[in-house]
Amino acid sequence: MDDEERAGTTVTTTHEFWLAGRRASGDGDFEVRNPWDGRLVGKVAVPTEAQVEEALAAAVDALPVFAATPAHVRTAALDHVAKRLAERSEEIARLITAENGKPVKWARGEVGRAVSVFRWAAEEARRTNGETMRLDTDPGGTGRFAVVRRFPRGVVLGIAPFNFPLNLVAHKVAPAIAVGAPIILKPAPATPLSALVLGEILAETELPAGAWSVLPVPNDRMPALVQDKRLPVISFTGSDKVGYQIMDSVPRKHVTLELGGNAAAVVLADWSSDADLEWAATRIATFANYQGGQSCISVQRVIADATVYDALVEKVVAKVQAQVTGDPEDEATEVGPLVDENAAKRVESWVDDAVAKGAKLLTGGTREGASYAPTVLSELPSDAILATAEVFGPVLSLQKVDGTDEAFAAVNDSLFGLQAGVFTHDVQTAFRAHRELEVGGVIIGDAPSYRADQMPYGGVKDSGVGREGVRYAMDDYTQEKVLVLTGLDL
Ligand code: SIN
Repeated sequence: MDDEERAGTTVTTTHEFWLAGRRASGDGDFEVRNPWDGRLVGKVAVPTEAQVEEALAAAVDALPVFAATPAHVRTAALDHVAKRLAERSEEIARLITAENGKPVKWARGEVGRAVSVFRWAAEEARRTNGETMRLDTDPGGTGRFAVVRRFPRGVVLGIAPFNFPLNLVAHKVAPAIAVGAPIILKPAPATPLSALVLGEILAETELPAGAWSVLPVPNDRMPALVQDKRLPVISFTGSDKVGYQIMDSVPRKHVTLELGGNAAAVVLADWSSDADLEWAATRIATFANYQGGQSCISVQRVIADATVYDALVEKVVAKVQAQVTGDPEDEATEVGPLVDENAAKRVESWVDDAVAKGAKLLTGGTREGASYAPTVLSELPSDAILATAEVFGPVLSLQKVDGTDEAFAAVNDSLFGLQAGVFTHDVQTAFRAHRELEVGGVIIGDAPSYRADQMPYGGVKDSGVGREGVRYAMDDYTQEKVLVLTGLDL
């Protein structure tokens, strides 16, 4: 296999971007390299300032037209994208693997999820009706009746991360199309190619010109776009540092932030049979390491009751050691490289810091280029960086607790609050977890890393503001407007 065949992409040409629904080449380009072997996967054109302005002006022009587009036009486009993503799934999965280093089996899962996101967006666009409200509940409202509908707040600026180069783009674009809000999508510089393929598919639809653009604008030019008053809605997924910088810089905009986490998996005393612990250990080992731990809901902290702790530790370590690492294009690989060598070096330095401060290294702790070995720590001291920060790498730490009170307190002892997993059979404990854990979602009987794309997804505390999950993003992109009818014979 030569390099081009391996990557499923053409490395000799520069990929154009999408400006108001049509292809455009810019001024200069940047390289996208495969994190596994450094091979060139593609070059991507950089939009000029004038082209960004053109895309923005086209989006503003499209706003009234798109918002008034019949639902059947929007749903036809969304259904088309779902169908074409499914048809091209293997090619796109291989592209995700090439640009991101995600093992191909996980990349296939990502494409399947993006299909689901567009399908859900079509469904939601079909059934969004608004609501009616009687107003004759007081004498002054006699003969009056209200219709409440939602309308786009304006053009959306979507800023996507590298860790799900297709599906987290889908979560920004599909809800925008569903509500008729034009969107300017900015993919991550490390992984723009999947978003550009999505552009190819969007260009096959009848959506109005200006309804969408995919602009690989360099990060250092983003502050100007963030500040632009013609973009009143910003949907950002990425680090808490950048997310809150954006929010603080534009307090009058509607900003949603999907940020980091250090998700906990809690194993309680009643989850104690050998089969229970096998399941918990399998799920923890898998979801601490899937896509190299580069998911905001990958397992970073395991909090286990003292009565099950020792048995669980033994199983978790064995299952982490059994994770198949290596070339992400191999079918068997479960854990590939991180997004680049710097990311792996950062993880290495954080593990070294923890060990130097007294943590016990149970397995892993080694780096080769951009790959970091699946790693398990215990007895993590509270002053270690890993005790508070999001590792975004294949590292988990185990903590022993006494009882449910202590376990839940440990989960909540975090700056973040995205999702938590609780292994319990007790339905009362499940409801208690739902009530008491300071997170956006609680998963019972599984790792915290479960996400169905129609679920509300987002965090509390430093994990962000707002919710994705198709219908919830549609709500964020729109606001209610009331129509009051008077003089009616009701
Ligand atoms: C994320 O990393 O926040 C996204 C997780 C997912 O969509 O599964």
